[in-house]
Amino acid sequence: MTVPPPIVAPSILAADFARLAEEVRVVEDAADWLHVDVMDNHFVPNLTIGLPVVQSLRAVTALPFDVHLMIDDPRRWAPGYADAGAYNVTFHAEACDDPVALAKDLRSAGAKAGLAIDRDTPIEPYLDLLPSFDTLLIMTIKAGFGGQRFIPQLLDKVRAARRHVDTGHLELRIEVDGGIAADTIEQASAAGADAFVAGTAVYGAADPAQAVRHLRALAERAAPGA
Ligand code: DX5
Ligand code: ZN
Repeated sequence: MTVPPPIVAPSILAADFARLAEEVRVVEDAADWLHVDVMDNHFVPNLTIGLPVVQSLRAVTALPFDVHLMIDDPRRWAPGYADAGAYNVTFHAEACDDPVALAKDLRSAGAKAGLAIDRDTPIEPYLDLLPSFDTLLIMTIKAGFGGQRFIPQLLDKVRAARRHVDTGHLELRIEVDGGIAADTIEQASAAGADAFVAGTAVYGAADPAQAVRHLRALAERAAPGA
């Protein structure tokens, strides 16, 4: 099994929203993707940013955007993020009754398609849909807020997904989101995740770029087969 280098995606949810362009540039040379959390105050209680902010940010960085839609009715809104130049657009399984159709729409709009699984959602019903997706985002907290404590039991879903991806020879990133930091990333990597979202652990650090590099090194060392 060849292990692709891990992806580290800083989440701007933990950045200073009054200085977003600068905050993005701080991680520009260290990060693989930039994780953008879109919340609508319906699917989750929190409210963050939407399409106009993504469109404006797209002009200030070359980093690929990993857009995480925590919104209702993603079939209505998700393709707009692909049109705005997002690299990957992830929507929640719980919010969509035809995930495969939306994945197709996203791919034809030129983006990669991601499926997100929230804390209380089992992974098994979705495993057979994975050939339609490029990323699978497994929440390691309950979606909605940054700065929550990592839930290690949720890595069972990562293990199940990794087995399925490897035995099916699928080309899919398994991404974890929530509470990823220097003291949790190794167990997530060992469980089979190969893309890591980190908000607080990056933007709460004195040197965010260095924090990204450190996280990547830890993930790389802990990866199965490394
Ligand atoms: C929360 C978001 C996360 C959040 C993670 O629902 O999906 O991306 O930014 O923040 P930390 O890394 O602080 O747990
Ligand atoms: Zn997220």
